[in-house]
Amino acid sequence: MSSSLSAPSAPGPRGTWLLGMLPEFRADPIQLFSDLTRDYGDTVSFSLFNRPCMLLRHPDQIAWVLKKNHRNYGKNTRGIQKLKAILGDGLLTADGPHWRRQRRIAAPTFRPKRIGGFAATMLRAGEDMLCRWEELASREQAFDVNEEMMTVTLRIAGETLFSADVTGEARELSQALSTAMQITNKRVGRALDMPSWWPSAENRAFRAAMATLDEIVRGMIEERRRTGEAEADLLAMLIHARDEETGEGMSDAQLRDEVMTLLLAGHETTANALTWTWHLLAANPDCRAQLEAELDRVLDGRSPTLEDYSALEYTGRVIDEAMRLLPPGWLFGRAPLADDVIDGFAVPAGTLVMISSYITHRHSEFWPDPERFDPDRFLPAACEERHPFAYFPFSGGPRGCIGRGFALLELRLLVAQIAQRFRLEAVPGHPVELEQLVTLRPLHGLQMTAYAR
Ligand code: HEM
Repeated sequence: MSSSLSAPSAPGPRGTWLLGMLPEFRADPIQLFSDLTRDYGDTVSFSLFNRPCMLLRHPDQIAWVLKKNHRNYGKNTRGIQKLKAILGDGLLTADGPHWRRQRRIAAPTFRPKRIGGFAATMLRAGEDMLCRWEELASREQAFDVNEEMMTVTLRIAGETLFSADVTGEARELSQALSTAMQITNKRVGRALDMPSWWPSAENRAFRAAMATLDEIVRGMIEERRRTGEAEADLLAMLIHARDEETGEGMSDAQLRDEVMTLLLAGHETTANALTWTWHLLAANPDCRAQLEAELDRVLDGRSPTLEDYSALEYTGRVIDEAMRLLPPGWLFGRAPLADDVIDGFAVPAGTLVMISSYITHRHSEFWPDPERFDPDRFLPAACEERHPFAYFPFSGGPRGCIGRGFALLELRLLVAQIAQRFRLEAVPGHPVELEQLVTLRPLHGLQMTAYAR
């Protein structure tokens, strides 16, 4: 791969005049991407309302964009621009020196030693949730597992990162976030967007959702500034951080953007990974039986702790496989700063380069019988043989997920804690459809019934 532009364009469909593939993208992006890679292969070019786009599928290409040539691939895409209306200029959406500085400030919170200290808080939150489930299980009453997972992961993110109790606001916060993300998604998929000051019902709903989110986040920051409590958490690090060159701290607006980003990125994705794990386990009872056998053997009836992490190997493989088939961060984009060539095809500066873990995680060269749920794909020997970028639920390279270790710990502890006590069964007839927002969520929630084991 080099940077000469005598290269030809990648193959792809012409689509509708002017709109290109926008109608198909808006209707069902996963279907569109599956069709495109089936028809054209690993490198596809198309347009979305006159905007040139490329979809890359091969792990070599993913490694090139995210790692080897990452400096050429910025985040200034239309999707990120729209997401900024929620997250501002926080770690996920920022670029360049500002991003580097913010990442340096946040990094110590996510070191393995520090994360291990969060295990007890994670398990306490899980325990409180399971106490409530006892009652539901005794009445065999179905409930929305996605909502439960959102609440528990939100509580964990609030307590571990910001020493804040957000359980009281959990429902309000989740609903506001859902509304804001649904509207953001519509905005990303539109050819032309109406101005944000226009008094449409959508703009009003977005402003109301943002007012709720802002109030909760501002409340957390103000409370800390007011009490001056010296918690040794991420919020304290953000408040006390000083720029190495100017010695200045973060403005309130910057602080708000970072807290919003970490609170949202820190719970939403993890909640969806857990939700999909329960869905896939209920659909694959043989794997669930193996998981339960491991929990009975390793834990022998006692509650899991941090020390059990490594012994819960099959539990880890179940989570890895669930995030292969249904990766919460399923699509992200990059904007090449300078012209590039990938696999002999031109990638002009400004093209929207799309990478979808959902699609690459089904590449049959790396994943035989890709739709089958098989946790043993993640046995250590198989992982060693596989291309490192055939699987990237947390992205990769310098812009990879800062919360990967945090999420993997939370997922393994909660899956073990929950599956040890309850077996979750799907409610017959409840539709399970993918809502393809910024993250992959169940469109109608996930109704399940818990049975005590
Ligand atoms: C299963 C759980 C999670 C998944 C699947 C996930 C996935 C991802 C992905 C795919 C990206 C890259 C996005 C892009 O390049 O546009 C990312 C970035 C990020 N994630 Fe996560 N994430 C998870 C959990 C977390 C947690 C627990 C936190 C924080 C506590 C977190 C914070 C972030 C942040 C701040 C970024 C931006 C990093 C940067 O650009 O420097 N994530 N995550």
